[in-house]
Amino acid sequence: MRELAYEERGTGAHTVVLLHGFPFTSALWQAQRDALGNGKRRIVTPDLPGFGRTKGFEETMDAYADDVLTLADRLGASKIILGGFSMGGYVALAFARKYRERLEGLLLVDTKADPDTQEARAGRYSLLERVEAEGPQAAFDAMLPRLIAPDTKEKRPQVIDRLREIASGATKEGVVGALTAMAERPDSTTILGDLTVPSLIIVGMHDQITPSRDADELATQLPIARIAVIEDAGHATPVENPTAVTAAIQSWLIEHGW
Ligand code: MLT
Repeated sequence: MRELAYEERGTGAHTVVLLHGFPFTSALWQAQRDALGNGKRRIVTPDLPGFGRTKGFEETMDAYADDVLTLADRLGASKIILGGFSMGGYVALAFARKYRERLEGLLLVDTKADPDTQEARAGRYSLLERVEAEGPQAAFDAMLPRLIAPDTKEKRPQVIDRLREIASGATKEGVVGALTAMAERPDSTTILGDLTVPSLIIVGMHDQITPSRDADELATQLPIARIAVIEDAGHATPVENPTAVTAAIQSWLIEHGW
């Protein structure tokens, strides 16, 4: 179990933990963290091991989930509202599988419950070799073509600069560990029906990495779920359309008295 470095805003009784995706850091959630923390809820954004300010690495989703549990304990939170973007969603689902009794709500953003196909797994291991040879920025370069909507690329190239800047906080060991953890992650579809906490699924309208059919599957199988589709965004919704993502999370939190 590792101690995760984190930022937090707000002081309330409810604890919302937002996990970043691959190959980013907690800065991915900066806009949401700054907007959503208040006197009723605190918003906590940790860096997973090997990303941002947290040293080391993990190689399984279960190990990341254990780190999140350690964080919840450190925060003194008996239950957390856990959110994850993409790889962060895989971690959130691993946490839900292992520590369901510690969940108050579940927020899944541009993510899915299925494991990798054989082809996807092979792609992870060839990217892992590239990262070993060329460094961690190779992971961002490999993802970029499918990371944001074509329209964002054309009309708002500064979004790419911002994402590249956030990804520059990744270390080689962190990226290699995360690729291994993603390649070998278990099927989480089988647990969805048991997750009876309120869930919100968010997906970018033009997400090419975890497209809307993945979000639909989550929303269909989770017992208490609603879905928010984010316009003007591909995969990287928290940065591509921060206002819409913040608004969707805000209204869901308010709906549940959080
Ligand atoms: C992420 O955004 O965290 C990754 O793209 C997820 C993945 O590659 O499956």
